[in-house]
Amino acid sequence: ENEKAIDIANLRAKTGLVTIDPAFMNTASTKSAITYLDGEQGILRYRGIPIEQLAEKSTFVETSYLLIYGHLPDKAELTRFSTLLTRHSLIHEDMKHFFDGFPSTAHPMAVLSSMVCSLSSYYPDALDVDNKDLIDITIARLLAKVRTIAAFAYKKSIGQPFVYPRNSLRYCANFLNMMFSVPAEPYEIDPEIEKVLNILLILHADHEQNCSTSTVRLVGSSKANLFASISAGICALWGPLHGGANQEVIQMLDAIQRDGGDVSKYVAMAKDKTSNFRLMGFGHRVYKNFDPRAKIIKACADQVLAKKGHDPLLDIAKGLEEAALKDSYFVERKLYPNVDFYSGIIYRALGFPTNMFTVLFALGRLPGWIAHWKEMMDDPQTKIGRPRQVYTGPTLQNYVPLDQRS
Ligand code: ACO
Repeated sequence: ENEKAIDIANLRAKTGLVTIDPAFMNTASTKSAITYLDGEQGILRYRGIPIEQLAEKSTFVETSYLLIYGHLPDKAELTRFSTLLTRHSLIHEDMKHFFDGFPSTAHPMAVLSSMVCSLSSYYPDALDVDNKDLIDITIARLLAKVRTIAAFAYKKSIGQPFVYPRNSLRYCANFLNMMFSVPAEPYEIDPEIEKVLNILLILHADHEQNCSTSTVRLVGSSKANLFASISAGICALWGPLHGGANQEVIQMLDAIQRDGGDVSKYVAMAKDKTSNFRLMGFGHRVYKNFDPRAKIIKACADQVLAKKGHDPLLDIAKGLEEAALKDSYFVERKLYPNVDFYSGIIYRALGFPTNMFTVLFALGRLPGWIAHWKEMMDDPQTKIGRPRQVYTGPTLQNYVPLDQRS
C-alpha cells in the first residue's frame, strides 16, 4: 500500500498535479500505529488502550514506554526504563550557566526549547540518527532531562537555588520536589497530588498528528536529530491555538472574574466575529462531540480543589461551559471544552505559575513526540517531508533597476 501511495505521489510530481488542502483538514501525512482517535465518539487510545484505563491504572513512565516501544513493559523492561530515566536526570553542569544568560522574565517555553536543542551539542553521538544502538539512551536522556530543565528554568525565574533530581524519587515526585523544595523546607510529596500529575501527563502524552507532533515529524524527516526535532515541537506547542491555550484559559478566567464574573458577556464576545476573541480552551479540530481528556481532567479538578481549597476560577469555568453549551453558536459548531480548559485550574492549585502551564504540556507530550519520531525513523519508506504549494504570484516580470521604480 505504501509503495502504491508513493507511486501515486511520484506520478503527481511528474504530471504537475497538486492537491491543495489548507491546514491539512483532510490530508493524512502518514500512517501511524501509535494513537487511535475518533473525534465523533470522543475515543482516544494509546496503542489500543483507552486513556481512561491508563489514567486510572498506569503511570506516566509506563505510558511513555507503551507509546515509544509499542507495548506495556514487563517488570524487567519497566525497571530498566525507570533506572535509565533516573540515571540520566542530571544535566551537564556547564548547562546551568545557560540559565544565567536568559532574563529572569524569560518565558520558560523559550528557555525549554533552547535548552533542549542545546542538548544535541552535549551528546554529539545523537546526531547519527541511523545508529539504532544509541536511540534508547537518547530517548532516556531527553525524557529525564527535560523534567530537570523545566524545574531549573522555574527556579531561576524566581531567584531560588536549583534543586537537583533525587534518585530515590519516582518521576513525577522528583519533578514536584525539584519545583517546590527550598533548602529551608523540603517539599512533602503527597501521593494524591503525585497521582494527579501522573494523570495529567498521561492525558497529554499523545494526540496523533497535531501541530507540534507534525512539526516533530517534518523536522525529523530531514534526519535532524531527536533533540533538534523535539525542540521544534516545543516551539509549535507554544502557540495559543495549541498548547499555549492552557495559559490563555487561566488569563481569560481571571479577566472574567476581575470584570465581575458575567460569563454571558464573554460568550457573546466569542460569537462576535469582529471582536477577535475566542473562548480559550474551547473547540478542537478533531473532537466534535466531547474531548475525553477534558472529562477526566474536570473530575480531577474537583478532586484537587476539594483538597487544596476552593478556587473561584473553577466556578467561572463551569459557568462558562454551561452557558456556552446552551448557546446555538457553540452547539452548531460543535465547540466543547478541550484538554486545556480545566488543566490550568489544577496546575494553579498545585502551585505552578501560569507561565509554566505550557511547559507541563510539553513534558506530557514528550513521549508522544518521541514515539512519532522513532516510528518514522524505523520506517524504511520514510522520505523527507516536503509539501507542495499552489503558486498565486505573477507568472513572470522583469527586474526593474532601483532608479527606474516609481
Ligand atoms: N471560540 C469561539 N469560536 C470558535 C472557537 C472558540 N474557541 N473555536 C472555533 N470557533 C469557531 C470559528 O470562529 C469558526 O466559526 P465559523 O464557522 O463561523 O467561521 C468555527 O468555530 C470553526 O473554527 P475553526 O477555527 O475553523 O476550527 P479549527 O479546527 O481550525 O480550529 C481550534 C480548532 C484552533 C482548536 C479552535 O477551536 C480554537 O481556536 N480554539 C481556542 C484555542 C484552544 O483552545 N486551543 C487548544 C486546542 S487543543 C490543543 O491544541 C491541545
